[in-house]
Amino acid sequence: MPTPVAEFVDVTKTYPSTWRPGRGVQALRGVSFAVEPGEVFALLGPNRAGKTTLLKILLGLCRPSGGRAFRMGCPVSERSTLARVGYMHENQGFPRYLTAASLLKFAGTLASIQPAVLRPRVPALLEMVGLSDRAREPIAHYSKGMVQRLALAHALLAEPDLLVLDEPAEGLDWAARGLLREIIAAHRRAGKTVLVVSHALAELTPACDRLAVLVEGRLAYCGPLAAILRDPDTGRQRSLEAALAPICRP
Ligand SMILES: Nc1ncnc2c1ncn2[C@@H]1O[C@H](COP(=O)(O)OP(=O)(O)OP(=O)(O)O)[C@@H](O)[C@H]1O
Ligand SMILES: [Mg+2]
Repeated sequence: MPTPVAEFVDVTKTYPSTWRPGRGVQALRGVSFAVEPGEVFALLGPNRAGKTTLLKILLGLCRPSGGRAFRMGCPVSERSTLARVGYMHENQGFPRYLTAASLLKFAGTLASIQPAVLRPRVPALLEMVGLSDRAREPIAHYSKGMVQRLALAHALLAEPDLLVLDEPAEGLDWAARGLLREIIAAHRRAGKTVLVVSHALAELTPACDRLAVLVEGRLAYCGPLAAILRDPDTGRQRSLEAALAPICRP
């Protein structure tokens, strides 16, 4: 059995609550599943289900209150494997005085990408996400979709083995969503792994192999996309929205 790229074992997370002292917010309640190498895995669920929290735990940005989490077979506290991960956060907080080109150059240097490799890669990525003509303008001047496109380029910069995308389609126009699907498909073809959180079900999830559904911090489903799309009563195909409705009902 290959080592999972991401693994969660009975993970819980309770955030301290400032408005209800003594009673925290239970974001995750005993979540266990694994993401295998080479698969495109979608993490779905209603708002506040705990999806972003789980991604943050995987990336070591937030500590679980209980349970264990592994990245590429190592405990998430082991920093070395982060170099193989590309992360597109749900809210982009890039320094707004930087230009797209200077941001990528800086991030690439931080990631120890050789200058000879980085020099052509930055314009190539900016071209791919359609920002070449505005690459030398401060991020402060960018529209929402432009910042999202830049975030995608930023996540791809170090050619990661694991691409973690938190609502990547948010704010993207139809052309950029098509590009996103192509990028995800190219990662799969290259044998790399994608873990994506998305509410754009009809657009992104057809590209997925398996999915997990979180509801109020609990794992409500984990399995192949094809299985959830088959209605257990009639055996007929159904939409993902129809399949998720009974699972996500509070
Ligand atoms: N830093 C924090 N402090 C306190 N509570 C938090 C914090 N971060 C998240 N939470 C709470 O944890 C729960 C899960 O939040 P999370 O961001 O993981 O949800 P989500 O599934 O990503 O939702 P969405 O689809 O809206 O992005 C929510 O109730 C949220 O208010
Ligand atoms: Mg979220």
